Order: sequence, then structure tokens, then C-alpha cells
Amino acid sequence: MEVVELKKGVYWVGAIDWNIRDFHGYSTPTGTTYNAYLILDEKNVLVDTVKAPFYLEMMGRISEIIDPSKIDLVISNHVEMDHSGSLTQVVERIGNPVVITSERGKKGLEKHYQKPFNFKIVKTGEALSIGGRTLAFVEAPMLHWPDSMFTYIKEDCLLLPNDAFGQHFASTQRFEDEVNGDLVMRHAAKYYANILWPLAPLILKKVDEVVKMGISIDMIAPSHGLIWRKDPSRIIQAYVEWSHGKTERKVLVIYDTMWGSTEVMAKTILKGLTEEGVQARLLSLRTNHRSDIIEEMLDAKGILLGSPTLNNGMFPTMGDFLTYLKGLRPKGKVFGLFGSHGWGGGAIKEMRRHLEEGKFEIWEKELSVQFLSDSEELERAVQFGREFAKKVFW
Ligand code: FEO
Repeated sequence: MEVVELKKGVYWVGAIDWNIRDFHGYSTPTGTTYNAYLILDEKNVLVDTVKAPFYLEMMGRISEIIDPSKIDLVISNHVEMDHSGSLTQVVERIGNPVVITSERGKKGLEKHYQKPFNFKIVKTGEALSIGGRTLAFVEAPMLHWPDSMFTYIKEDCLLLPNDAFGQHFASTQRFEDEVNGDLVMRHAAKYYANILWPLAPLILKKVDEVVKMGISIDMIAPSHGLIWRKDPSRIIQAYVEWSHGKTERKVLVIYDTMWGSTEVMAKTILKGLTEEGVQARLLSLRTNHRSDIIEEMLDAKGILLGSPTLNNGMFPTMGDFLTYLKGLRPKGKVFGLFGSHGWGGGAIKEMRRHLEEGKFEIWEKELSVQFLSDSEELERAVQFGREFAKKVFW
């Protein structure tokens, strides 16, 4: 893979991780990239590094452009190890360059690597001339960690926002306009939903702050996936809509099953939803990864959860999913519950408790069946779906 010039004198020198399939609990079916950028000017600057096992891959790309010892400054926009994992080796190879980061970045890097890096701390609004270019910094706490920061190259109208606007997507292309646009947006949506969803209010504030700064952006180069070259406002607008919780007339039926009874209920409820003209999707927890289900939730307004009772509680797959969901804290959804049991029951009660702890809106009605549904219970399941659709959309 060649180095790629984004703007005159600004290069992508990152690494492609084709084989990663699990990024801290998030499924990455194509892999991902760790994007680092090299800016050649009177002072040469490396923006971010890559995950430690990819150090040599990145250094090989840098060496095609410049002797690495000629790098003067290394910017660390984010402490998480997919971006800072090579920092120690980079600093040793270059020979103690200045490491530019936020105050919290310094603390995080010191705790991770316990090295006396030659830090320069920057704050929002600070600018740094590197010759023909000016770099400006915008602290972006919690996008994705408290230390996160954006770097902006004024003369190139190029925003380097690290984790924001990224996708976990590996390809031989570097720019979004070189790949099917719908595919890229789906990966961007999955990334937002699984990583940034809890931070929706902060994202809206940050977008507003950047707009008020009046900076012109004609390219966004994130730290994962493809670079937004053709129309970067598209991904900014998508982030605003996702953060406002814009939804479609859509309901998900998410379930697991032990002997098929809860699955029959799920499919019958789906029929009722469909009869009300709702776009409904059936998602088994056995065959859909939790991170794909979360992506589907982004534009769904109603969520029905179904579980059989196992040992007086919910099925373990539902426990996994609800734990993950609670952490992501999506707002504006309405949840409904159903399930089957043999004798005492308990799954619905346990699911309800988890949702209450997460402060989700829960429909008071629930549908419970002992063993298998008879014809009257199947009719109740259809009505349950119809009533849920009315509750959510009317
Ligand atoms: Fe891509 Fe928060 O690291």
C-alpha cells in the first residue's frame, strides 16, 4: 500500500489492520485502519501513530517520504492505544521530538508509557506555526476519551479529528468517494452507534463550537477508515441527525430462544407490526453480533425484546446485549418485553429491571407464554405487535 498525499505536503502514513475482527467488543468484518498523517513544512509533523504491532508498517511509509529523524513534532490527539501504541518507539526512532497533546493527554500518556516525553501542552484556540502552515487545536473531551483533541490545518482547511467521523473499515482505498457511498455511511453509522452514541449531547455542542469558530473545512481525515474528501459536510450532518435521535417508522424484534417458543412469539409479533405498516426487523441474538444490532437501533423508534426463562432469569445472550446497551444509553426509544417460560418465569422481570436501571422508556404491557403458544396466544401475539406499533407511532 502506497503512501497517499491528501493535500500538497500532507500524507497518510498509517496502517491497515485487515485481520482484526473484534475491536473491544465491536465486530469489524472488514478490519480497520489506524490513520497517521505526516505534514512536511519548515517543521515536519507526525499526527498520531498506530497500534503497536503496526509500527514498522507506518515507519516504512514515513521513510518513503522523509528520513524519520527529520520529524520535529509528534501530535498525540488521543491516548487510546490504537493511536498511541507506537509512540514510545516513534519517539526513540526520531530522537526525542516535541510531543504535542492536551493536558489530559499528557497525564494519560505518562500513565500508559511511563516515559519522560518532551511534552508541549496545548488548549482549545491555541495555534502553532510550522512554517507555511498554522496548526490549530480544539480539545474534544469524551470524543472519544477525556484527552481527545482535534488538530486543524488552517491553510489546507483540513480537519484531523482523530476518532470522530471515523469508520472501522479496511480497504485499499483511502478516500470515501472511491468507495460505494452507502457502504461507507453504514460503517460510519455503526461506528457512531457503538462508540459515540453515549456522547450525543457533547457531539452537538462540539459541532456547534466548531461552526461558531467559523473555520472552513474541505476535508476531514479521521483516525479510522476513509477520508471525507468529496463532501465532508455529509458526515457532519449525519452526526447531527444521529445525535438528535432522528428515527424512522421502524421497530426491531430482538430475541433469543431455547426450544423455539420465544422465536414463534417473535415472528408472530412481527406479523402484527407489519400489519400496522411498520418497517420491522427480526434479529436473533444468536446470529447477529451485538454491535450490528446496535447499528440497526440507530434509526429505530421501537424495540421489542424477547427471552425465554432460564434458571429464573433471562437468557445469557440477552444479559450480554442489555449490559452493552445500558452503556451506550440511546435516547428516545420505546421498549417492549415478551418471553416464554416453563413454570416460574423470571426473564421478563429481569429484562425490565435492566431497562429500568438504564432509565429507558418501557411499555407497561408485556406478553408471556407458558411452554408453547396455543392458537389464542398466537392471536394475542399478533395484537401485541399491533398495539406496540400504535403505542410507538400514534
Ligand atoms: Fe480509535 Fe478511542 O481510539
